[in-house]
Amino acid sequence: MSKIGVFDSGLGGLVITTALIKALPQYDYLYLGDTAHLPYGDKTSGRILKYTLDSISYLIKQDCKLIIIACNTATSICLRYIQQKFIPSNAPDVKVLGVIIPTVEVALSSGEKKVGVIATQATINSHIYQTELQKINPNIDVIEQATPRLVPLIEQNNFKEMEDIIKQYLSQLRGVESLILGCTHYPLIKEYCRRQMPSVRVISQDELIGKKLKDYLNRHPEIEHCLTQRQSRKFCVTRKNIKSEQIATQLFANIQIEEIAF
Ligand code: DGL
Repeated sequence: MSKIGVFDSGLGGLVITTALIKALPQYDYLYLGDTAHLPYGDKTSGRILKYTLDSISYLIKQDCKLIIIACNTATSICLRYIQQKFIPSNAPDVKVLGVIIPTVEVALSSGEKKVGVIATQATINSHIYQTELQKINPNIDVIEQATPRLVPLIEQNNFKEMEDIIKQYLSQLRGVESLILGCTHYPLIKEYCRRQMPSVRVISQDELIGKKLKDYLNRHPEIEHCLTQRQSRKFCVTRKNIKSEQIATQLFANIQIEEIAF
């Protein structure tokens, strides 16, 4: 079977997987959350690259022919290296895509002049959103805000404390016309953000990724033809954790999560 692999540092990427399956249910999916090393957002680039390469290698061995790096942190640090160096010499028949370029395209589609980004510390330090947005529109004003307290609260399913913390973070982004939620976990808090910023266009990756991948596969029949269509789904993590599995159960009823070791 030639599957679509979806990789994230944790279980937040399941939200992205749900969106992909909804848009493209016919394909076979293998999800991998590197929960043993979560969070990536506070790690060095070297560590993030090592963990991401281990995970991508696993997905390749499991016959994934198209891999989506749902993790913004891994995309910002590793995608270019993976596409330009790792894949050509290790698995030239595999395509690896990230989530940042599709998000940037949507962010630029409405002509706003001031865009906010919230993401992990590593993603913000990379300035990838600012770079990619300004590559296409050099006049756009980008305000980047690291939001390191959010992922641990989301992974612990602790939504009680969340609203105040989101309020504090978003108060740093006054005047933005749109807000990019630049982290796999943030679709789970998009409604809190919309409540805090009712006049701002909140861009949530779960709402764009299905359509973007569909368009991509239409434009690349040579990749689409490699994918099998048996509607299988498999979910793996590198370390099981009861709290985050509660989130997984909310997203996929009867989800079975397997712990794997590389
Ligand atoms: N998956 C990460 C991202 O999208 C967030 C969690 C982490 O820090 O590993 O940036």
